[in-house]
Amino acid sequence: MAESKKYQDSVGKLTKLLESNLKKVDQEIIYRLDKSIPLINDIGIHLINASGKRLRPLLTLAMAAQLNDYSQNPVILAAAVEFIHTATLLHDDVVDESNLRRGKKTANIIWGNEFSVLAGDFLFAQSFELMVETGSIQALSSLASASCKITQGEFQQMQIAKKPETTRKQYLDVIGKKTAELFGASCESGVIVANGSLVEQKAAYNYGFNLGLAFQIIDDLMDFNAQSKKTGKNLGDDFKLGKTTLPIILAWEKSNTSEKQFWNKTLKELKQDTNDFEKALTIFHKYNIFESCKLKAQEFISKSKISLDQLPDTEIKEHLIGLADESIQRSR
Ligand code: IPE
Ligand code: IPE
Ligand code: MG
Ligand code: MG
Ligand code: MG
Repeated sequence: MAESKKYQDSVGKLTKLLESNLKKVDQEIIYRLDKSIPLINDIGIHLINASGKRLRPLLTLAMAAQLNDYSQNPVILAAAVEFIHTATLLHDDVVDESNLRRGKKTANIIWGNEFSVLAGDFLFAQSFELMVETGSIQALSSLASASCKITQGEFQQMQIAKKPETTRKQYLDVIGKKTAELFGASCESGVIVANGSLVEQKAAYNYGFNLGLAFQIIDDLMDFNAQSKKTGKNLGDDFKLGKTTLPIILAWEKSNTSEKQFWNKTLKELKQDTNDFEKALTIFHKYNIFESCKLKAQEFISKSKISLDQLPDTEIKEHLIGLADESIQRSR
């Protein structure tokens, strides 16, 4: 990407401002992979070297930089955050039977489910070693709690699968746990290691949590309408497994009897014909489902930005506001 284009948006501007520490995060991650067991190293490197956005460590570093206190190492913490995220991706791709991630074949396709799960466990465990090294019990507590919630959320996601009649509240509970908690903790822990006040910690958590809700709503939308070349993931993975996401819930709420029969066949019974994905899209378009999902995501983005009022007015804060706005229109 041309240098000027690369840094145009808020994520790009934050990346530029935090460039040297982001590089150190990547170095730390590579350094911490397990060289003694080459396969663990291979699986880690495969995913780490692919085109991940590094959004969560970026948030951790940005929050710490806002308060301009580097007495405890935010780089180590940011590396821990990316390790937690990567571990969850390894496990998630097994659960979701996905075969494309960050534009590459998934680890479960290359090495199988067993090695993927174990490599995920290693990355999780490694993240805890890193967190201990920061010396902050509070940061450790925030991220440990988020780690538990991710697993709870992934469990609950499985339990609502094939149930398009799931309520919006149940859905928000699931995505809150599986995605938004880590966004919240990534931000909160960044403020903790930079010695921010309790009010600032809470504000950072609320910014991250609400951003995370919006981020997952858009991710769920992108499973239906994004370009696989940009997301680096396959289109329609969620539909194929009958995953209950916001587009499905909103469409079910509006559907007439014959449309409900279609959802029952394709999602509850998982009997899908080749053109059923297209048919689902037709129903979505009829009821403006994508627009409704974006409006819902927008509500959380507004909440997210308001939380930043409690944090100092810095250039970084301006970019965090921009990052939140951009997340609605993102294509990857
Ligand atoms: C993917 O997260 C998992 C979700 C919470 C939707 P990202 O979209 O941040 O994935 P990478 O790190 O850029 O690959
Ligand atoms: C987010 O959900 C997964 C995690 C929190 C690990 P998805 O299953 O939708 O994420 P992608 O689409 O596979 O990245
Ligand atoms: Mg998945
Ligand atoms: Mg999943
Ligand atoms: Mg997804």
